[in-house]
Amino acid sequence: MRKNKVDVLIGAQWGDEGKGKVVDAMGADVDIFVRYQGGANAGHTVIVEGRKVVFHLLPSGMLYPGKLCMIGNGVVLDPEQLLKEMDDLYSKGQDRARLVISPHAHVVMPYHKTLDRLEEAARGKGNRIGTTGLGIGPCYVDKFARCGLRVTDLLDADCLRESLMAALEEKNHLLTRLYGEKPIPFDEVYEPAREWGRALEPYVDSVTDLLYKALEEGKNILLEGAQGAMLDVDHGTYPYITSSSTSSAGAFTGTGMAPHALGRVLGVMKAYTTRVGEGPLPTEDQGETGEFLRERGGEFGATTGRPRRCGWLDIPALNYSMRLNGVDAIALTKLDVMTGLNKIQVCTAYERGGVRLSRYPADGSLRDVSPVYEALPGWEEDLSSCKTFESLPEAAQHYVNWIEKQLGVPVKLIGVGGERSQTINRGL
Ligand code: GDP
Ligand code: IMO
Ligand code: MG
Repeated sequence: MRKNKVDVLIGAQWGDEGKGKVVDAMGADVDIFVRYQGGANAGHTVIVEGRKVVFHLLPSGMLYPGKLCMIGNGVVLDPEQLLKEMDDLYSKGQDRARLVISPHAHVVMPYHKTLDRLEEAARGKGNRIGTTGLGIGPCYVDKFARCGLRVTDLLDADCLRESLMAALEEKNHLLTRLYGEKPIPFDEVYEPAREWGRALEPYVDSVTDLLYKALEEGKNILLEGAQGAMLDVDHGTYPYITSSSTSSAGAFTGTGMAPHALGRVLGVMKAYTTRVGEGPLPTEDQGETGEFLRERGGEFGATTGRPRRCGWLDIPALNYSMRLNGVDAIALTKLDVMTGLNKIQVCTAYERGGVRLSRYPADGSLRDVSPVYEALPGWEEDLSSCKTFESLPEAAQHYVNWIEKQLGVPVKLIGVGGERSQTINRGL
């Protein structure tokens, strides 16, 4: 029996691994779903009986009636986006899964989005990060610079007035002096922010206290990561990263739970590699294979609609990610997308300047590395209605076994389609 019933689920690659689908597919056994970092830059897709929902801030368990969903202190919360997401869901007759929002979550303000856009433009073509433009970086900057606004600040008119005045004074200085833009009038932000406070107030409570209570009661808790480990602010391909701790460690700072509460870490990975935005991607294929994966896999961003860069599986990066996150079990998604590739390539090492690297480079960067490939057999059969591992074609089984061996972690869940039901569970 597991000591603790707290699972952390993380993206093991560069995001969009299918975390939303996996959270939802596991959801029947979960009592509480929690988002702990990132913000509306996330786009987590859930498909149930043909109905598709993309969550940006709400946890992906929201389609389960009556279950508890939480937004932890580590999230940067865009109230406009959250309220829209809630409205969309409720207007479609969705039962109100109970939502709890941490008062300590930082608020993405309109000026964060403006600054995100201006900073990207100032970086120029060669240095752009390719952010989602949703104010994530600038909001986390303010959090760490100790000048951010938190959800709790929205609830108190005086506190909001004071914090916003101070923030705007600085931001307007930046906007006008550095970027030559117009200043943002106080009332233009204050009035909507008061409205957000009123709308969010009923949901604000101590996420940390509630989680500890639930832990004592033996409830199953699932902490849902956003983005992917290779976008982690400390351990990813810096500076081409997002601004939060996307690895499993972020689940503790982002909820207030202590590490000893942890049960298992579930790593979600695609059967191939994708990335959206700039930055190194050693196995990127800009030819036929990349196009095949993008088209068959529908690899277009769930948040921005941008085409995702696609390529073969990258074992050195995944081994790095497995260790970084302490992954206990893998959910392997999109195996069905690989049907029709008569040969599958897999990157088992890198080369840089004529030197072979079998591990992730010590300098933490994937710049200038090229992939060393091995080939595995492909398959032609459609996997979308396979219900068991044994019903997969031999070459697909071989691919899964090969991945387990390379990474030293069992593949406990296999995705063969986007629907909740298109999931092979091998004892997760
Ligand atoms: P997330 O950000 O990790 O939640 O992933 P996204 O939702 O951004 O992108 C994953 C995409 O793949 C979505 O369109 C899902 O519906 C889809 N998807 C997830 N798992 C599978 C799978 O096993 N097979 C197929 N064909 N699609 C999947
Ligand atoms: P989910 O949770 C994939 C990428 C952006 C950009 C970089 C920084 O759906 O997997 P940001 O707006 O965060 O400052 O952008 O990070 N990025 C993601 N890529 N999936 C995501 O989320 C992402 N969230 C951010 O494309 O390269
Ligand atoms: Mg996504």
